Amino acid sequence: MAQLWGGRFTKETDKLVYNFNASISFDKKFYAQDIRGSKAHVRMLAKQKILTEKERDEILAGLEGILADVENGTLDITSEYEDIHSFVEANLIDRIGDVGKKLHTGRSRNDQVALDMKLYVRDEIDAIDEELKKLLKVILRVMEENMHTYMPGFTHLQKAQPLTLAHHFGAYFEMFRRDRDRLSDVYKRLNLCPLGSGALAGTTYPLDREYTAELLGFDGPTRNSMDSVSDRDYVIELLSALSTVMMHLSRFCEEIITWNTNEYRFVEIDDSYSTGSSIMPQKKNPDIAELVRGKTGRVYGALMQMLTTMKGLPLAYNKDMQEDKELTFDAIDTTKGCIALFTGMIDTMRFRNDVMEASAKNGFTNATDVADYLVLKGVPFRDAHGIVGRMVLECISRGCAIDDLTPEDFQSFSSAFENDIYEAVSMRNCVEKRNTKGAPGEKAIKEEIELSRKYLLEN
Ligand code: ARG
Repeated sequence: MAQLWGGRFTKETDKLVYNFNASISFDKKFYAQDIRGSKAHVRMLAKQKILTEKERDEILAGLEGILADVENGTLDITSEYEDIHSFVEANLIDRIGDVGKKLHTGRSRNDQVALDMKLYVRDEIDAIDEELKKLLKVILRVMEENMHTYMPGFTHLQKAQPLTLAHHFGAYFEMFRRDRDRLSDVYKRLNLCPLGSGALAGTTYPLDREYTAELLGFDGPTRNSMDSVSDRDYVIELLSALSTVMMHLSRFCEEIITWNTNEYRFVEIDDSYSTGSSIMPQKKNPDIAELVRGKTGRVYGALMQMLTTMKGLPLAYNKDMQEDKELTFDAIDTTKGCIALFTGMIDTMRFRNDVMEASAKNGFTNATDVADYLVLKGVPFRDAHGIVGRMVLECISRGCAIDDLTPEDFQSFSSAFENDIYEAVSMRNCVEKRNTKGAPGEKAIKEEIELSRKYLLEN
């Protein structure tokens, strides 16, 4: 049991207590961030003449040695240390002797852990953003290739109006684009450096907090030392942003699972992204999509846990806050993994354009367009709606589509119908004439694709 604080105690910590209190099993994940923070701290201490340049260089070399040894596998982060901070400091002292004991001058584990967590979250935001960008690129490719792939659009999971696969995927492009925005917002707000806040009330050493902040790529130091060590807002914001990413992935998965069924057959998930059944030889299951949908709850759970952990905490640091790590790490890894797998799945998925188009042709998806046709011929919309409703009823009883009616049939419903009705309500026209901004028509979707391309080049 290696602790940093034995001095005022007369008894050994109970073994169970020690284990309950220790965080090394999970905070070892940010060893690199802990060392990065310590290096900046030491540089600042030397600049302020709190350490000599020689002491600084010895400590820096020691810290770099620890980092290298952890990374090349010669130094294990074991549970004999209480937390990652103790591990690094104890190793430093082992390596370079007494000068290592000066590392923690003007610092507390409270501002240290606040810094480590911010550095870790920042790095992970970058990594998740990259995954989201890859996903957007695949979505854009599918859009570019499917501007004229017709399919039914649904409301209430009932066929509503025809649109294109490009347009459907475009909706998800927007969702994941906003997710990137949300993450970069979290980054911006968290990007102030807590180091130098001490345990809660700053320190009497003449620290240059601006300098440390600059060395670590922050926009500046945090303003209030009590807030600095007890702020976990950015963790909550991150978990909220990740929950939204997962919610979007989960909705997309739900659609893909549906589209992949024997009943729909709109898509076929590639063999490499499907799994079989141990008993039913014919099965090819969309397990990846189901797992991504299933894992969404885990990430929501982390958000709830963190909100609950923080709600009763008086200022400033309380040990409850150590609970910010495990579920946050899990939420980060889960989301990152899910985005990557999902991207691979849709990148390799086969779209059955013929099935989608056939499906758009039945189900009266052009009924609105028939009503709009009548309006163009001078029939008030409400009357047109009623006429077309009666036509649909008739078609249902005959088992045919509106387009299958004869010119005489059309005339019997309204004298406003002329022979141009067939062309007017063809699938092509129903889709390609919808060119209001953001609609599926050729002109509108081309603009949307152009904007999306530009966005990916610039962001
Ligand atoms: N392991 C602790 C955490 O994760 C580090 C800070 C400990 N500070 C303290 N005063 N005990 O929050």
